[in-house]
Amino acid sequence: MSETTFDLIVIGAGPGGYVAAIRASQLGMKVACVEKEDALGGTCLRVGCIPSKALLEASEHFHMAKDGLGRFGVKVGSVELDLPAMLAHKDNVVKANTKGIDGLFKKGKIARFLGHGRLAGNGKVTVESAGKAAETLTAKNILIATGSKVAMLPDVKPDGKVIGTSTEAIAYPEVPKHLVVIGAGAIGLELGSVWSRLGAKVTVLEYLPRILPGMDTEIAAEAQKILAKQGLEFRLGTRVKSAKVVGDGAVVECEGQEPIQCDRVLVSVGRVPNTENLGLESVGIKPDGRGRISVDEKFATSVPGIYAIGDVIPGVMLAHKAEEEGMACVEGLAGKYGHVNYNAIPNVVYTHPEIASVGRTEEELKSDGIAYKKGSFPFMANGRARALAQIDGRIKILADAKTDRILGVHILGPRAGDLIAEAVVAMEFGASAEDIARSSHAHPTLAEVMKEAALNVDGRSIHI
Ligand code: NAI
Repeated sequence: MSETTFDLIVIGAGPGGYVAAIRASQLGMKVACVEKEDALGGTCLRVGCIPSKALLEASEHFHMAKDGLGRFGVKVGSVELDLPAMLAHKDNVVKANTKGIDGLFKKGKIARFLGHGRLAGNGKVTVESAGKAAETLTAKNILIATGSKVAMLPDVKPDGKVIGTSTEAIAYPEVPKHLVVIGAGAIGLELGSVWSRLGAKVTVLEYLPRILPGMDTEIAAEAQKILAKQGLEFRLGTRVKSAKVVGDGAVVECEGQEPIQCDRVLVSVGRVPNTENLGLESVGIKPDGRGRISVDEKFATSVPGIYAIGDVIPGVMLAHKAEEEGMACVEGLAGKYGHVNYNAIPNVVYTHPEIASVGRTEEELKSDGIAYKKGSFPFMANGRARALAQIDGRIKILADAKTDRILGVHILGPRAGDLIAEAVVAMEFGASAEDIARSSHAHPTLAEVMKEAALNVDGRSIHI
């Protein structure tokens, strides 16, 4: 008989849950983690962030080999796509990552339970798996980290083949001739880019008059132009009414437009929390109208001993936000002080070039009546970016008009997702734009664009 009594039961082994489980075991707790999938890592590792990044890297290499190396004086013969090998690369990346977590769980002596976890009254979780009697675990504390699932539109009926979600779109067995992407958020733009680079015609349908809602408008507009030049067709202000499988393909109907025929449809219109079938009613937790669980600053729900983090609570649905919350929550349980600074959670879209942001957008500052200064610097004026032949985009820093404290940083450009880390740390330390401007940045690096943007906040960039 395996042990069934724990200090902490974590339901869900995504980035929020598995990180919380590891941290809790480091803090001396006896931890169990219930996960219904064979592989640990959740949506992010299995079918989300990690496989999509593997495909983004691979498809960018294909695109470079095909059309991008001539300018570096590198001549290549005919370039061919080996899609099965590319998909195998992605699968291997996923396998290596999920296996890594297996190892970390073993190291931390975290008891792993395979099955669907459900609250069964205070301090109890049942684990249900097909063909096995349900098992009941007990613990002083329970952490709900069950993440989210893809949101669907009422008249878009996925068949898991022609009409599907990102899970299907990271594994199409052949390059679609025409892929219709519904929703111009991170998922739509990233996976749209992958298949466009591999040769598909890609049409992105977006209800709003802009792409990437929530991101800085100026940066999003510049990104849209670049992505359109790469071949993505954007139809903004387009509300999708329905999508149906017809013959071998699909027909997508939009308000006030001709129906669009295509051979694949990717639905990427957001995600909804996984709070159904969790037994919340057994303890008296009522999710809000959007299925989210309310928590206090220690991630405690309304029921003592039950906590929730990540995509099931309000806030941005990002893996690293869930990780921060998971660590802060279990540190609190261990009597330590955990905190999450929601003003300094970065957001990255891994298109080419990448788009990254942290803190307030210009629109938010305007609508809140906060006086700000703006510094901006283009990658075009940076030696390293020129050497890389990646000169599109800019870094924009928004600082308080009086105190110079950094309020937001927005990047469109090469390796934006890595460059944003400097801005995050600066904001965590309450830095001013002048602090970045006075810090030495190695030459020649892309990071110099950050320094120049900071200098530009006071109109003293050197290279423009
Ligand atoms: P999203 O919420 O970012 O974007 C969905 C888009 O669909 C919105 O622009 C919305 O206006 C549009 N839309 C909704 N209904 C529509 C309709 N009927 N017709 C046309 N357009 C419609 O959602 P997405 O891209 O599915 O991502 C889900 C979550 O996963 C987000 O929270 C995102 O931040 C996260 N994510 C993050 C990634 C990253 O950090 N790189 C990568 C992938 C996902």
